[in-house]
Amino acid sequence: VAIDVRARVADVGEPGDAATATDTLVQELVVVRIALEALGVISVTFAAPDGSELPAWEPGAHLEVTLPSGMIRQYSLCGDDLDRRTYTVAVLREPEGRGGSLELHDIGLVGRTLAVRGPRNRFPLVEAEHYLLLAGGIGITPVLAMARALQRRGSDWTLHYAGRRLSSMAFVEELRASPDGRVLLHPADGGARMDVRQAIAEMPEGTAVYCCGPLSMIDAVAEACEELGVSAGLHLERFSGAAVDTDLERTPFEVELGSTGETVQVGADQTIIEALEGIGVEVAFSCEEGYCGTCETVVLEGVPEHHDTVLTEAEHKACDRMMICVGRARSARLVLDL
Ligand code: FES
Repeated sequence: VAIDVRARVADVGEPGDAATATDTLVQELVVVRIALEALGVISVTFAAPDGSELPAWEPGAHLEVTLPSGMIRQYSLCGDDLDRRTYTVAVLREPEGRGGSLELHDIGLVGRTLAVRGPRNRFPLVEAEHYLLLAGGIGITPVLAMARALQRRGSDWTLHYAGRRLSSMAFVEELRASPDGRVLLHPADGGARMDVRQAIAEMPEGTAVYCCGPLSMIDAVAEACEELGVSAGLHLERFSGAAVDTDLERTPFEVELGSTGETVQVGADQTIIEALEGIGVEVAFSCEEGYCGTCETVVLEGVPEHHDTVLTEAEHKACDRMMICVGRARSARLVLDL
């Protein structure tokens, strides 16, 4: 069976396709609306301060938002990609999280201006004859935008959407209005469990599978693909710090700042970011586990040793950029574009 599988953990960075013009664009955008979409889920809508048109985006894209506290977080765009005046993301309230979602939920952001980088799209829709969309919880955000676009294009698509409780599953009303049979809801409190294996097994040849949800769901997709012998065209991408090898033998190396020639020694027990902070150089970062893409840095000289799950294998081999929260060096010195 030829199936193209793409997956991502909800609302963190994604591994790489080609960079686009808006990847590094930083805009000051105003929060114009916050709405409750489900229990514990809000949507946050941004617009330009003067209401002007915003750069276009495609389903799968995300924004990198700098919160008032300085924390940087990535959120998938879930609004209408044809609406050029606003960007909308959805955010799950995660009391046990690292604080970003609580900040967005709790501090009353309407009217505030925030720095927003992107849109960036490392989870784009590929051309396919059929599409199977699998979403778990807040993972519905990029998938919703995909479903809308596929419906508009007249594509053949099916969406399975699982959640713990129907009341906490966002955008259910809109999805229920989809043509018959396109959307299957699986709220666990209604006794409905999503059978990922069966969903994949039922799809015809030429299906592109997109999965966004918790790691457990992505693992289930990977397992099902293995069991079903789905290998041709398999494109499974994981986005989690779990892939970072913590038992790695680390050796010190030197980093030179391309702009000033200043150098800093990165100790065996330090990250590049920590070493840079030690000499007063501040860089943007978020996950610190190599999966969000915020700390991506251009390598001007030297050979990086990659430990991230953001860049593709080909991008790792190119050695021209790296995630400096987890990446180290194979050469004694790296010159970074800082
Ligand atoms: S990849 Fe997230 S901070 Fe480095």
